[in-house]
Amino acid sequence: MTGLLTPAHPSGAVPSSFWVILHPPAVHNRPTGTCKLLRGGSFADTGLLAAVSLLHIPPTLDVEEREPGRNGPNQGAICPFGGTAVAATQEAAAIPDGRGGVVGMHTGAKMGVIHTIPFVNLQRLHQMMGNSLDGAFFSVVKDASFTMGPKLETFEDNFAAYIGVRHAVGVGSGTDALHLALVACGVGPGSEVITVANTFAATAEAIVMAGGRPVFVDVAEDTLLMDLDAAEAAITERTRAIIPVHLYGQPVDMDRLMAIARPRGIKVIEDACQSHGARCGKFRAGGIGDAGCFSFYPSKNLGALGDGGMVTTDDDEIAHRVRLLRNHGEDSSRLHVESGHCTRLHALQAAFLNEKLPLLDEWNALRMRAAALYDDILAPADVVLPVRRDGATHVYHLYVVRVSDRDQVREELAGRGIQTGIHYAVPLHLEPAFAHLGYSAGDFPVCERAAASIVSLPMYPYIEFDEVSRVGEAVTEVTRA
Ligand SMILES: Cc1ncc(COP(=O)(O)O)c(C=O)c1O
Repeated sequence: MTGLLTPAHPSGAVPSSFWVILHPPAVHNRPTGTCKLLRGGSFADTGLLAAVSLLHIPPTLDVEEREPGRNGPNQGAICPFGGTAVAATQEAAAIPDGRGGVVGMHTGAKMGVIHTIPFVNLQRLHQMMGNSLDGAFFSVVKDASFTMGPKLETFEDNFAAYIGVRHAVGVGSGTDALHLALVACGVGPGSEVITVANTFAATAEAIVMAGGRPVFVDVAEDTLLMDLDAAEAAITERTRAIIPVHLYGQPVDMDRLMAIARPRGIKVIEDACQSHGARCGKFRAGGIGDAGCFSFYPSKNLGALGDGGMVTTDDDEIAHRVRLLRNHGEDSSRLHVESGHCTRLHALQAAFLNEKLPLLDEWNALRMRAAALYDDILAPADVVLPVRRDGATHVYHLYVVRVSDRDQVREELAGRGIQTGIHYAVPLHLEPAFAHLGYSAGDFPVCERAAASIVSLPMYPYIEFDEVSRVGEAVTEVTRA
C-alpha cells in the first residue's frame, strides 16, 4: 500500500471510525459512482477478506471483526461510522477526530476513505487549545476549591464584562438559569410567560418549573425568530414575562420587544443559550433584557466540559435573588433566608470556561466564515438558506436550511458520511410534556411547517473549507433530484 494521504495523528491514536472504499481512480475521497466497501483484510497482498459493491454507503453497516492474527503492519480493517476501530494499518492509525483517513493504492485501484463529517467536532476545538484545559484542571485540583470560590468569581466577572452587564451569576445549566431568572423576576403560580413554540424544551420547562404557564406564539417565516406581533397580541393581564429565544445564534429584535414589554411592566428574560457573543445593535445578546440566560452545554458556542449556565443582568435585585436561589437560599451571613436550590456553576467548569472565553469571538468569526461559504455553495441549490436580520450578528450556533423531503435528504447525507441534526423536530405545543396546555396541530403553522423541513448542517469552529464544500455539494446534489 502506498500513497497514504492523511497524516498520522500526533498522539498515534487509533481511529475511532473509518471506512475504506475501493473506487475507480480519479475519484477522490468521495463515494460517487460505484464504490466497493472493503470489510477488512490485508492490503499487503490480494487478500481482501470481503468487498461489497455499493452505490452509496449506508450510515451503519455490520462489519465483521477482522480475523485474529492478521494485524500486520500492512494490513487494515474497517469499521462502521461511530464504531470502534478494530485495527488499522500502521500508516493508517491516522484519524485525529473522526474524519477518516486511509488512502492508498492496491492492485491498481485507488483506495479512498469517506471522511465522516460530524455534526459537531469538539475534539478539534480542544486540540487547538493546546494544554490550557489541562492547566485549568490541575489548578482547580491544586486549589481544592470546587464549589463557589475564586475560579467561579473570576469567570463571573469576565463573563459580565464580556456581555456588558454588572452581574453574572453562574448556575448549573441553561435550564436552571432560565428557571431562577424567572423566579427572580416574580414568575410563579398564576403567571403567564410568552415564548415561542420552536425552541428547545428547556425554555418552556423552566416556565413550568417556576410555577408559571407557557403561552406559545408562532415565529417569523424568514428568520424563525419570535413573531413580535404575535407576542404582543398574546399579552394578557396575567403576562409576567416574555422569553425571546435567540435561536440558532441570531438575536430577536430586542429594541422592538423592549418597547412592547417595558411600558406594560412585563419582564424580558433573554434565552441566549444559543447566541453567546451575538450582537443586537451595539449590545450583546443576553445583555439587553431584564436578564439573560446562557447554557454552557459542551456543544454551545461557549461550552464547558459538562453542564453549566449563567444569568446575566444589570439589575441588583435579580442578581441577588439568583445568587440566593442557586445556593440553598443562603445569604452572606450563611442564613437560609428562603428555600432555594443546589445549582452552582462548578469551579472546574468555570476554570475551563475562563480559558475558552477569550477565544469566543475568534470561534464565532470562524463559524460566520463557514456560514458564508455554505451560503455561496448552496446558492444554486433547492434549499432555503438562513435569513440574517438587519442590525444583528448571527453567530451560527447552528446553520439551519430548509429542504423538501427532509428525512430523505438526511438519509442520503448520512450515506455520504455527513451528520446532520433537526432543531427542532416537534414544536413544543405538540410535545406530550406540554399537552396539558391544550394546544393542537395547526395552532402555529409557521413552526409546524419549519419543523417538517429544517435540517442543521455540520457547523463548528475549525470546520475545514473542504468539509463545508463537501457538505454543500452533497446537499446541492441530493436536493436536485
Ligand atoms: C434555546 C435553549 N434554551 C435552553 C437550553 C437549556 O440549556 P441546558 O441544556 O444547559 O440546560 C438550551 C440548551 O440546549 C437551548 O438551546
